[in-house]
Amino acid sequence: MGAPGSPCAPLLLLTLLGCLLSAVLAEWVKVQDEVTGYLGQEVILPCHFAATNQGTNIQVSQVNWVKETGGKKQNVAVYHPKQGHYYPTEPGSDRIHFRTLSLEDATLIISRLLVSDEGTYTCRFAAYPLGDEDGVTNLVVLAKPTNTAKPQEVKIGNLEAPVAVCTSANGRPPARITWQSDLNGNASVSEVANADGTVTVTSQYRLVPTREANGKSITCVIEHKTLPQPESIPVTLSILYPPEVSIEGYDDNWYLSRNEAVLVCSAKGNPLPTEFTWSTTSGPLPKTAVAQGSRLVVRNVDTSVNTTFICQATNRVGQVSTELVVFVRDKPNLDGAGTTGGIIGGLIAAIVALAVVATGILICRQQQKNRMEREDDDLEGPPAYKPPPPCQLSDEGQQVNSPPEAESTPLKTLFFEPSTTDGHFGGVTATTMEEAPRYHELPTLEEREAAGNAAPSPEDEYLDQINPIYDALSFAAAEEEMALTPIATDKAFVMSRAMYV
Ligand SMILES: *[C@@H]1O[C@H](CO)[C@@H](O)[C@H](O)[C@H]1NC(C)=O
Ligand SMILES: *[C@@H]1O[C@H](CO)[C@@H](O)[C@H](O)[C@H]1NC(C)=O
Repeated sequence: MGAPGSPCAPLLLLTLLGCLLSAVLAEWVKVQDEVTGYLGQEVILPCHFAATNQGTNIQVSQVNWVKETGGKKQNVAVYHPKQGHYYPTEPGSDRIHFRTLSLEDATLIISRLLVSDEGTYTCRFAAYPLGDEDGVTNLVVLAKPTNTAKPQEVKIGNLEAPVAVCTSANGRPPARITWQSDLNGNASVSEVANADGTVTVTSQYRLVPTREANGKSITCVIEHKTLPQPESIPVTLSILYPPEVSIEGYDDNWYLSRNEAVLVCSAKGNPLPTEFTWSTTSGPLPKTAVAQGSRLVVRNVDTSVNTTFICQATNRVGQVSTELVVFVRDKPNLDGAGTTGGIIGGLIAAIVALAVVATGILICRQQQKNRMEREDDDLEGPPAYKPPPPCQLSDEGQQVNSPPEAESTPLKTLFFEPSTTDGHFGGVTATTMEEAPRYHELPTLEEREAAGNAAPSPEDEYLDQINPIYDALSFAAAEEEMALTPIATDKAFVMSRAMYV
């Protein structure tokens, strides 16, 4: 078999020199040190003889490949120009074969690569007069793993449990799995060797399953030789927990003959509760109340809904109920107190009403006293204990009825301003924050005391008795929550007031 394309052929002198040189360097067989193949795919193990036998008298008589794995040597491919080609380990199979049948190119092709193909391959040329010339290639078989990560639904609890699992299946070599997470969990890794020589790596992320961990995202990071960069798979945790229920929408203004009132059963939970059951503490729902899933629609407010409503929400994990006390009024609640401030608002309204009535009586009495003292225009003579309502506390009433001395105390007029603008006493509670500062522009209790110390008139004494209550109340209206303490004692009231200013 000739080799027409030989480099030594054209220029004899140069060729001889070159060929001698290469003979000295003895790099006759050209192979790759390492070849990487992928499981199931085709791999090429290149091998060439560097020079032809022409001009150097080197004659190759046979080529073959020897595979060595675990100390065991096997002849896997052989070619002889006269005997032909043969593959001793897999006779009759087309999986292993020479790329071409040649004494210069012994490149071997292995298809449908197996893990068992991995090993050290020696490409050998039987050459005269050199003897055997070898080239050694290491074949590495890799398998690209299939990576997945998913949450593992787990019930809320006190014991550590796997909340996410990340799998790198059928990889070779085994993948390395780590987790990125802000949660205080830890991972446990297990490996399974598969029949085809690949490895499946599984990492469980373990955590004490809390309500807070639900919905949190963690990331599985897989590093593998076949991946140019680590693969990141995010996982959103799913911790199952029973419903968290509250009844919303109660405006504390359910009055008789009101047309429509709606309560909403608001429930969180994992999975989200979809089943709601409405009832009352005294049994099933009244006729006028209609349950529409999480909503309860009361078509007509009557005394039958003057009760405690129960909403029960159910999900896969549990059943939780909550109650709401409904108070049915005879008349609409004009204070407009919200659901949250309802109780406090009611309390303040009651105290204000009481205080206003008391003030009314005091002022009326004072006015009567003045009138009795003067006796000129006292023809009609109002009764000694005139009930407060007829005794109008409006601006007009005061200007008409008040004696001249009353006008010299501006406090009186100023203090009633908020009430008179609303036209009724209850208006005090409705005082908005914008109105509130007006009270505090007034002289403080101490200032007033200092000013009136010299000779307190009987009127001033009365007002001083009234003022703390009023001041406290006006303050209460502005700051509902804090109001309860200041009313308790004068001292506490002064302190709170200072804090507010
Ligand atoms: C998880 O880590 C904690 C400390 O960080 C340790 O106390 C606990 O034993 C670990 N759990 C497992 C299953 O390794
Ligand atoms: C609702 O019940 C309360 C006592 O629970 C009662 O004071 C109130 O008068 C009732 N309302 C009506 C409109 O009957």
